[in-house]
Amino acid sequence: MIMLAVVFGSWYDHVNGWWQKKKTYSNLHYMFFEDLVENTELEINKLCSFLGLSVSPEIEQHITGQVQFDNMKENKMTNYSTLSGAVMDFKTSPFMRKGKVGDWKNHFTVAQNEKFDEDYKQKMKDPSLQFRSLL
Ligand SMILES: *[C@@H]1O[C@H](CO)[C@@H](O)[C@H](O)[C@H]1NC(C)=O
Repeated sequence: MIMLAVVFGSWYDHVNGWWQKKKTYSNLHYMFFEDLVENTELEINKLCSFLGLSVSPEIEQHITGQVQFDNMKENKMTNYSTLSGAVMDFKTSPFMRKGKVGDWKNHFTVAQNEKFDEDYKQKMKDPSLQFRSLL
C-alpha cells in the first residue's frame, strides 16, 4: 500500500493546485527539487530575478551552500525538529529523508511502481506539469 496522503494533505492536490494557480498569477514562482539539485546556482538566480533582487556573488554562494539538502536536514529551522512529536514521529520517519533524485527506484518493487504509475496517471492530468524524476 502506497501512502500518498500525509499530515500536510495530498501531494497531488498541493502540486496541481499551485501549478494551476501559476497559470493565472504572475507573482508565483514554481521550483522543482530536481532542478535545485542539478543546478542550485541557476535556480537561486532565477529566484532572485523573480524577486527583483540583485545579490553579490558571496551572498549567492552562501545561499547555495545553505540550501543543500544535507545542510537543510541538519538545520533545526528547516528540518521540522522544532515541531512537537504530536505532529510527526521522527523516530518512524524524519521529515527530510535522503534528498536523492530517483531514489524511489531503490525502494519500490515493480508491482508498487505499477500501482503508483496507475494512481499518478489518474491524478496528474495536466501534461504541462512534468516531474523529471518520474520519467
Ligand atoms: C535537525 O537539526 C538539528 C540541529 O539543529 C539536529 O540536531 C537534528 O538531528 C536534525 N534532525 C534530523 C531529523 O536530521
